[in-house]
Amino acid sequence: MDINKYSPKFKVKGKDLLHLADLTAEEIFEFLYAAKAMKKKYKVGETVNLLHGKTIGLLFGNVSTRTRISFELGIRQMGGDSIFLSRQITQLSRGESVRDTAVMLGRYGLAGIVLRGFPDAELEEFAQYSEIPVINGINDTSHPLQVLSDLFTVWEKKGKLDNLKIAYVGDGNNVANTLIMGCTKCDMTVAIASPNGYSPAKSVVERGMQFGDILITDNVAEAVKDADIVYTDVFISMNDEDDEKKKAKFAKFRVTPEVMAFAKPDALFMHCMPIRRGEEVSAEVADGPQSIMYDQAENRLHLNKAALALLLSREKHGA
Ligand code: CP
Repeated sequence: MDINKYSPKFKVKGKDLLHLADLTAEEIFEFLYAAKAMKKKYKVGETVNLLHGKTIGLLFGNVSTRTRISFELGIRQMGGDSIFLSRQITQLSRGESVRDTAVMLGRYGLAGIVLRGFPDAELEEFAQYSEIPVINGINDTSHPLQVLSDLFTVWEKKGKLDNLKIAYVGDGNNVANTLIMGCTKCDMTVAIASPNGYSPAKSVVERGMQFGDILITDNVAEAVKDADIVYTDVFISMNDEDDEKKKAKFAKFRVTPEVMAFAKPDALFMHCMPIRRGEEVSAEVADGPQSIMYDQAENRLHLNKAALALLLSREKHGA
């Protein structure tokens, strides 16, 4: 479906945002149109007071720069307040149940909560017992806010989403999984080049194939051929040890100018950041004219604000 022919209603059916697999193409477009509106207002200095009197909880189980700062500042820009909680300093770290935490945090009057680093089972349990909207700020299987922000960035830069080819080179991790779901739903073609043993989850690929074309290969040139977008992520994800063996396996999967040459001449380079120049991408590409990684990072702010506006506009168990 062509996003430019879609008329936004600025409403989404769901009240939680756990995985892009849960959203339809139309719901993805709602987030993207809302981000566009938020960005426009931000750029002209127009105040958006949608969170006046509301407090959002940020309960994080791992470190963050972009997700935390873009939420904290975005909430402030919308007239709201936030409470940051490291999982380590809550009773969750001493075995208090997810269920009890979820029920209790809603009773204190939080309007919504962003969870980061919660495994799928915990995330789903939290959402089940929480009276307030729950947003997945990344976990081992998906990174929905990042990919919504990336889709918004591609739309800004290319003017469309459908019929574009995105080539992801590297570890078939949470970002790759989420790109598969988000991009196929937006009628983009997806190609993933990973070393043997590091391809995205089979279940995700099979599900994504219901929506669009996906190529899984260990051949970088084949994946990147005629791509409109080349995307990569760090080889060593959060919580992994610095694994020299893994780094060696990934050496051929570095995005270099030679790799970019397989893509279309106007191809864009994307990275969700943080990056390690010289590992998954050469500095020449990361800091070169095709790179839009800082736009992606900026758009986390506008997309997060959009997500809060959409998800908090209704009571979770209400109408
Ligand atoms: N891309 C991303 O989620 O950045 P942080 O880990 O800094 O939040």
